[in-house]
Amino acid sequence: MGSSWPLGEMLPMKRMQKTVAAVARRDATLLSAVSCYETNYPEFARQIVRRAIDWGHVDPNEIVVTGSCTEAISLCLCAVAKPGDTIAIESATYFVLLQLIEALGMKALEIPTHPKTGPSIDALELALSAGLVQAVLLIPNANNPLGCIMPEANKQRLAALVSKHNIPLIEDDVYGDLCFTPERPWPVKAYDTGGNVMLCSSFSKAVSPGARVGYVLAGRYAQEVAVLKMVSSGATSHFFQAVLADFLSGSAYETQVRKMRRALAQRIARMSDAICHAFPQQTTVSEPQGGFVVWVSLPEQVDALALHEQAIAQGVAFMPGQLFSASGKYSNYLRLNCGNAWSPRVEAAIATLGQLVHREADRPSVLRSAA
Ligand SMILES: Cc1ncc(COP(=O)(O)O)c(C=O)c1O
Repeated sequence: MGSSWPLGEMLPMKRMQKTVAAVARRDATLLSAVSCYETNYPEFARQIVRRAIDWGHVDPNEIVVTGSCTEAISLCLCAVAKPGDTIAIESATYFVLLQLIEALGMKALEIPTHPKTGPSIDALELALSAGLVQAVLLIPNANNPLGCIMPEANKQRLAALVSKHNIPLIEDDVYGDLCFTPERPWPVKAYDTGGNVMLCSSFSKAVSPGARVGYVLAGRYAQEVAVLKMVSSGATSHFFQAVLADFLSGSAYETQVRKMRRALAQRIARMSDAICHAFPQQTTVSEPQGGFVVWVSLPEQVDALALHEQAIAQGVAFMPGQLFSASGKYSNYLRLNCGNAWSPRVEAAIATLGQLVHREADRPSVLRSAA
């Protein structure tokens, strides 16, 4: 229940095995040729353009194919900011984004974030007007760990805001296709008129984490990003881009994400029920609108890091809340991955965790600080 990955059982592995074999038979040069001078495999880029048709027109020249969503975000950060610069982020946010900002010698500014509507645009406006940040990095569709989707009106305001201040916005849309709303929510990129928004995503969550194929629609920073991609890691495997292009060209992808959305919503509901039964009364559980994680607020006196140590000793994993903040907030929060199918093993893990939380919550504070 620690990392936010779907189990292999949810992924279209049989179909991928067939596609890998078919592509290898059809064009063996994809395996033998050196394709490192051309970042994008054209048919893959065409499929990305086709998938974006619902919300807007993507210029194929702004696509840079990457090895993952994380690589796309890292390249974007390097293209638009330098060591010492400050990046505005949601609070709470995916801990790898914080680690990336730190690794690049940049600083993070946490923007207050509503658990249902996402980051405060007013707060972001204050930060931009005061010249405090050089770039913005957000997860507007199904934020990890909160699971919230920014309302469309906020996305429009945000796009206008970054355009007015001429600030780049890096948009992590990796969960966009795994939202539970009747319609797939649009990205902020749909409202971007000045090319300031850089949309990053990948097929790691819904198709194949092992294929390592992601991309960025880099707007007016496309050239800088493409050069950085080239000099840092060369092109992403054309073979796997061709496999993904095949998968995306028919109805397989739509079928896959529809199936996953249904299953994930059910798994989240089941896990949330179990948490409500096993944890103390003061616990609250998020109601994610997409993705596969729940964000759990525990009684204030529980320290998630101490709890983590005890849980790991009993074979139960989760992510402690402190990881999702640049300033050590969320010490009484934890994130649980709901991607696993419900089973007696998961049920027992939630029961164990519930007992540990009860024990921590009931412990006299003197003993807690001594531990
Ligand atoms: C918000 C978010 N972005 C990116 C990723 C990683 O995607 P990739 O494997 O394509 O780098 C994750 C994985 O947990 C995630 O939660």
